[in-house]
Parts: sequence; structure tokens; C-alpha cells
Amino acid sequence: MRLVMLGPPGSGKGTQGVLVAEAAGVPHVSSGAALRRHGGPEVQALMAAGELVDDQVMADIVSTRLAEADAEGGFLLDGYPRDVPQAAALDAWLDGRGERLDAVVLLDAPHQELTDRLLARAQVEDRVDDNPTTITHRLEVYRTRTAPLAAHYDKAGVLRRVDGTGSVAQVAARVAAALGFQTA
Ligand code: AP5
Repeated sequence: MRLVMLGPPGSGKGTQGVLVAEAAGVPHVSSGAALRRHGGPEVQALMAAGELVDDQVMADIVSTRLAEADAEGGFLLDGYPRDVPQAAALDAWLDGRGERLDAVVLLDAPHQELTDRLLARAQVEDRVDDNPTTITHRLEVYRTRTAPLAAHYDKAGVLRRVDGTGSVAQVAARVAAALGFQTA
């Protein structure tokens, strides 16, 4: 399967993405994790400010990763695409290989819950962007740059909207139902 997890910061893309990727037997490809591991100082500064990294840089990172052997039969993208040009680049890359996305899972939760989850993570993990000012900005960047992708994928007939509230297990059950398989 070729899958995308879409949703605002804190909606559970990473948490659910790991479960879905395991259930589908495909690699979990997180753009944020790749940038945190390999991004240079300029990229780290953009992430710390909650700004998006350049589209071409992202397209190069993701297309290189997806061309690896373990992604030949499918993949789960977490955090990519994140704006309309990135979605167009992914569509073109897939077209060039005669492939298409099977589903795009859109997770969402109320603004306050998203903020609370990210602030809770700040207590236990050292993510430079989990602070009140940057969280507010990340959510705004999502609203203006990423949320429009829902219409793009709805039009393509692959969008699956999933309520991201409740426990991880409850959300996992909804995601599994939306995709037609079990995650646990
Ligand atoms: P990225 O790493 O993708 O972060 P994000 O989108 O801000 O998402 P998060 O990881 O914060 O949240 P999530 O939705 O994955 O939720 P999670 O499962 O982690 O991107 C970081 C930055 O990198 C971007 O701001 C940008 O600068 C750059 N970047 C990345 N991709 C890019 C791209 N394509 N283009 C340009 N720039 C890019 O959960 C969050 C917390 O909530 C966790 O602690 C988790 O344990 C908890 N949680 C999850 N589910 C539940 C639940 N059901 N109940 C209670 N708690 C829960």
C-alpha cells in the first residue's frame, strides 16, 4: 500500500503511522524524523521556528528514500506532503512510476487537545519546536499551508477522515476501519 498520514501537529500522525506501517508491512517514512537526523543548521533553524523546509529539498529527500528497495511495494509517508507544491511533486513522482496513492488518512483533533499533547511531550522529550510560541505557529502553518491538501486528496478519491480524539487504541481502531484492516 502507498499511504500518507495527514494532520496537524499533535494529531497522531507519527503514533498511528508506526502502527499502520507495521500492519501494512511497509516502511514508515517520517519527513520530520529525517530532517531532525540529517538536516543541517539552516534546516534545524527552520524547524525550531516551526517553518516549512524548502519544497525542493523535501522532494529530493523523499524521492531518494522512496526509491530504496524496501519501499518498492509500498510506503507510509508521515509529514509529507505538507503543501500543494509538495503534493504535486509526489503525484508527478508516482505518475512517473505508474503508481498512485491508495489512501490519505487525515487525522484531526481540537486545537486545545493538539496543544496539550505537544506541551505534554515537551515534558518528556527534547523537541526544540514543542514550546507554546512555536506550537501556535506550527498550527497556523498547518492551517494555511497543509490543510488545503484535504481538498486535493478528496478530489482524487483517496481521503479518509479519521477522528483523532480518544486513546491511541481508539484512534488506531478508527484508522484500521478506515483502511479496511487491523492494526492491533
Ligand atoms: P514533524 O516531525 O512532521 O512534526 P509535526 O507535523 O509538527 O507533527 P508532530 O510529530 O508534532 O505530531 P504528530 O501528528 O506526528 O503526532 P504524534 O504521533 O507525534 O515536522 C516537524 C518540522 O519539520 C516541521 O514543523 C517542519 O519544520 C519540518 N518538516 C517536516 N516535514 C516537512 C515537509 N514535508 N515540508 C517542509 N517541512 C517539513 O503525537 C504527538 C504527541 O501526542 C506525542 O507525545 C504522542 O505520544 C501523543 N499522542 C498521540 N496520540 C495520542 C492520543 N490519541 N492521545 C493522547 N496523546 C497522544
